[in-house]
Amino acid sequence: MKDRIKSLLKEKNAILLAHNYQPAEIIDAADLCGDSLELSIKAARTDAEIIVFCGVHFMAETACILSPDKTVLLPRTDAGCPMADMITPAALKKRLAELPPMPVVTYVNSSAAVKALSTICCTSANVIKVANSLDAPEMLMTPDRNLAMYAASKTGKKIHLWDGYCPFHNALTPEDVMRVRAAHPDAEFMAHPECPPDILALADVIHSTSGMIAYAGTSSSREFIVGTEIGILHPLRKAHPDKRFYPASLKMECLDMKKITLADIVHSLETLTGRVTVPEDIRLGALAAVERMVALA
Ligand code: 13P
Ligand code: SF4
Repeated sequence: MKDRIKSLLKEKNAILLAHNYQPAEIIDAADLCGDSLELSIKAARTDAEIIVFCGVHFMAETACILSPDKTVLLPRTDAGCPMADMITPAALKKRLAELPPMPVVTYVNSSAAVKALSTICCTSANVIKVANSLDAPEMLMTPDRNLAMYAASKTGKKIHLWDGYCPFHNALTPEDVMRVRAAHPDAEFMAHPECPPDILALADVIHSTSGMIAYAGTSSSREFIVGTEIGILHPLRKAHPDKRFYPASLKMECLDMKKITLADIVHSLETLTGRVTVPEDIRLGALAAVERMVALA
């Protein structure tokens, strides 16, 4: 299956991008892996005519926003992000009408239509930089309330919250972390900023998914407890075979991130099905918010 994918990618002048949470066999077949920020930048810079995006819908949409002339394929178009579904353009418009004028920072885990109503986008890798880049003491941050509380704690800005969250990161409890800590007392605890504040308070370091992979390489620790979706364990172990990684909780499995199979990739490339598109008026609005973010990178 991997050989077939390789030859189809060559034949069609296509590139395979995979998010760090994808199944191990997809990470191993991909041309490039990364976190949301890296994948947006890599998608914008590729010369390939077709981008096969192994991740969830908003990630493929971001690739479309940045590269309208390319064909973006999501081998399972039903792979979504429950957090991204916790905000709609209509609900955001209603909230904005209730607030005094202020910038809107929207996490990339959102639809293109929501991005189009926002001042700037952010990811878990750059949220602090983005909030600090705005010449405003207060802002609305959507849709992840945990990421917004984290940004507020690090920047001192007044951040109005949207009541969204990742069901998998939000479900991690201090008891889960303590249990794994008791079993591995020398391990450092790395947490993703989508985790709730009581978890972030226990973390030794807070990073995006690729930030965790980079940090594990620079840290002198040999063992790490990983507070994010369990798919990250494969790229972490691949990058650092001499170190040990323990999941903070096996409950942290994003089912949407596990939908795509190697067979789906072959089918999508053979038939060019699973194409993701964004209407041009929405794309242009979203592009402004995404480009402002990418310019800070
Ligand atoms: P990263 O940008 O850190 O890879 O996170 C994306 C995501 O969906 C986290 O749940
Ligand atoms: Fe969305 Fe959470 Fe899955 Fe990330 S892990 S894609 S935030 S549901």
